[in-house]
Amino acid sequence: MMVTRAFDVSVLGPPGAGKGTQAARLASAFDLLHLSTGDLLRDEVARATFLGGEAQAFMERGELVPDELIAKMVLRWLHSQQGYLGCAYDGYPRTTQQAHLLDGLLAELNRRLDVVLFLNVPDDELVARNSGRRACQACGVVYHVANHPPAKEGVCDACGGELAQRDDDREDVVRERLRAYRENADALLALYKARGILRQVNGVGTQDEVYRRLREAIRSVKR
Ligand code: AP5
Repeated sequence: MMVTRAFDVSVLGPPGAGKGTQAARLASAFDLLHLSTGDLLRDEVARATFLGGEAQAFMERGELVPDELIAKMVLRWLHSQQGYLGCAYDGYPRTTQQAHLLDGLLAELNRRLDVVLFLNVPDDELVARNSGRRACQACGVVYHVANHPPAKEGVCDACGGELAQRDDDREDVVRERLRAYRENADALLALYKARGILRQVNGVGTQDEVYRRLREAIRSVKR
């Protein structure tokens, strides 16, 4: 596929697969919006909003936040964007109910989800990626202590902010996140496979290698 216009892409995969890392790169390369429901939820929690208060306990346990809360949050986010010209959805949708809601929202904008990229990464690698992840508290850029370290330990290269581990990157919570993910993934992927827009991509390798595979996968989707 020649990417000649803004498009809508969803990057899916298990916890730590690299969804955030790669969705940010794709958004920047193709000039798309970037929507991470995980980042939006953490922002709601940090600002102690009503929605954040409702979501926090689910997140701390590593469970999915109920679909109704996600729907409210995504709707509000979409309405706050001016001049919607395509988006890289990061870890969204996670359930078939969320997928149907997104279909409806995009239809109102006269758009549709063009491609779904699924990152395949084995469990032992996922645990290592989650436990080594550090995120900037100021600007949100994500690092890894071994695979993608900052130039100066604990300090963000981009803005000089402080790097910290996420609360839900404790091993017991990571395992629950994996369980919650598995409970919903098969039905979701089956839905997109049936539409012919699902591309499964090997998520193991350097970030550049994975990025190149994703771009190839986007090109392979007929529109
Ligand atoms: P969310 O923040 O989305 O967490 P997640 O799905 O568990 O995914 P992660 O953010 O952990 O990982 P990622 O795949 O983005 O990987 P990353 O690029 O950071 O959600 C958190 C919680 O919010 C959920 O548990 C749930 O409670 C709730 N939630 C969110 N969305 C929801 C929804 N739609 N519905 C219901 N509930 C929802 O990479 C991980 C690490 O690996 C980093 O350190 C990175 O530097 C490193 N890395 C990246 N690529 C590579 C590579 N190729 N090789 C080696 N290391 C790499």
